[in-house]
Amino acid sequence: MVKGLHHITLVTSNQEVNRRFYTEVLGLRRVKYTVNQDDIFHRHLFYADEKGTTGSAITFFEWPELQRGRIGLGSPHHLAYSVGKVDALPMWKAWLMSQGVSVNGPYGRDDRVSLYLKDPDGVNIEITHPNDGELSQGYLEELDKNLPTIGEIRPEMRLVKFNHATPIADDPNITVKFFDKTLGLKNAFTKENPDQPGTSILAIGNEEQPDFLRYITSDAATRGLVGIGNVHHIAMAVADDGEQLKILKKLEELGIRNSGIIDRFWFHSLYFRDPHGNLLEIATKGPGYTRDEPLEKLGMSLILPPWEESRRNEIEKFLNETDNKNPIRWPPAYPSIRSPPESIIPSEKVPEERVVMDWRRQV
Ligand SMILES: [Fe+2]
Ligand SMILES: [Fe+2]
Repeated sequence: MVKGLHHITLVTSNQEVNRRFYTEVLGLRRVKYTVNQDDIFHRHLFYADEKGTTGSAITFFEWPELQRGRIGLGSPHHLAYSVGKVDALPMWKAWLMSQGVSVNGPYGRDDRVSLYLKDPDGVNIEITHPNDGELSQGYLEELDKNLPTIGEIRPEMRLVKFNHATPIADDPNITVKFFDKTLGLKNAFTKENPDQPGTSILAIGNEEQPDFLRYITSDAATRGLVGIGNVHHIAMAVADDGEQLKILKKLEELGIRNSGIIDRFWFHSLYFRDPHGNLLEIATKGPGYTRDEPLEKLGMSLILPPWEESRRNEIEKFLNETDNKNPIRWPPAYPSIRSPPESIIPSEKVPEERVVMDWRRQV
């Protein structure tokens, strides 16, 4: 039923820095420039491939006044994009370093080769390719010593789609049961996290993509905080409204609190939380981003959902005021990426009770 990832939504402090980074530095296209439908005086920015393909969209709420986020339970660790070939990784490293971005890797894992970076707000991003050629770490280090000179993003570097998202869990049994019962997603494998002994990588997915969710699990995981530089929610795709309705019925049957189905104009959404407090969404593939703009004009001007159009002047005035108070700094001072990149460091004691928050309380 669930077809992998649909989009991942995060929080940024400055839409213009965010736009320049995701379009100029990562080579994505802004496919929708709109407002947060639950908080219409703040922007919602969508970046994806040229066509806005499902599973390629990274989206941001601009909330300059929000606190910085903290990774932990309820606040996912990172997201990963795929590239078409492994040679793209040293190219990305050379390109990102030339732009002043903090980069780590490429690391050879048993099943993948990955490069890690941080966006200007501190978001952890992985660029990955399956390690089908069994590349050794030694080979990668050699590659690293002979990085190419990259003056622009080459076609073969294109970020294809999300490979996975990584939330954090403190009880793998509950996680596995939850995804099986609610969405029919299975735990394909669990293995030690090479970046932090004592923690595990727990794969959740469907047959085609058995690990589109790669939880890091640790009994010492501490509660996170959603804020600037962190993931707000992870959306998974279903083919149509009928499939979404089946999931809603299942959630109701299991007594899991949810938002009900919400019309987001470009797709329909259903929100709920996993047992660790991570906000999840089930979104339909259609109607799609071209519902109100032709493909060639996607993301070029401020689009409001039709029911907010009458408030356009008021909204634009508020957004202008936000920009005046929040000037752009470019190039940004990029935060440095942690090494090893997929480790979590406990920072405080885990609260006893499981917090299952209302999804709207984040807004
Ligand atoms: Fe990862
Ligand atoms: Fe969403």
